[in-house]
Amino acid sequence: TLETLFGSRLVAWQRLYGRHGLPWQVSDAYRVWLSEIMLQQTQVSTVLGYYPRFLARFPDLATLAAAPVDDVLALWSGLGYYTRARNLHKAAQMVMHDFGGEFPQQRQDIERLPGVGRSTAAAIAAFAFGRRETILDGNVKRVLTRCFGIEGYPGDKAVEAQLWQLAERLTPASRADMVPYTQGLMDLGATVCTRSKPACTACPMLDGCVAANSGRTAELPQRKPK
Ligand code: ADE
Repeated sequence: TLETLFGSRLVAWQRLYGRHGLPWQVSDAYRVWLSEIMLQQTQVSTVLGYYPRFLARFPDLATLAAAPVDDVLALWSGLGYYTRARNLHKAAQMVMHDFGGEFPQQRQDIERLPGVGRSTAAAIAAFAFGRRETILDGNVKRVLTRCFGIEGYPGDKAVEAQLWQLAERLTPASRADMVPYTQGLMDLGATVCTRSKPACTACPMLDGCVAANSGRTAELPQRKPK
């Protein structure tokens, strides 16, 4: 079934066609966390213009925590969604005071930081610490609803619960596969399984994809009901 093949196909695809060599593809939790916050509402190409400058001014968590919030906002200027910058600053202070300056490794602890939801916490745990954790952001919801033909609005509680369950089942058991799998999900959603005009001929899931094989990529994921 496609369910059992999904992980191995995605990992193989990521190794060949996924994004590599990005400055946050490191095992340092501070750098991974910063990138995930910037990437929450901003595209990779834009983040690449801000991320190195931000790191040059705030090279580590302690420096960020000790800085005036206005300095943080100044370096965020142009990225938008400034609550992210305020939360980032506050979270850095929380790690210093509540976690002794060590970035927490457990998804449940990471999730307590302001600005970090379940999926972002899972991404940090997987990328920085190689943990077996499942992500489910907007891009991943699109990939899964299309591939597995999940009906209903993904913002709906019951549909979202179904998607989490599916996403967890698909997550590989092997730790060695966690980083390429997680990065592969993000990259497939961002570069192939796009919202409009998806590049299905370049998709490793094409033969098993419910949406592609029924001409319904434009209908899945379903829109918010009015
Ligand atoms: N979007 C959110 N996190 C990302 C990442 N690590 N790489 C690419 N796109 C992303």
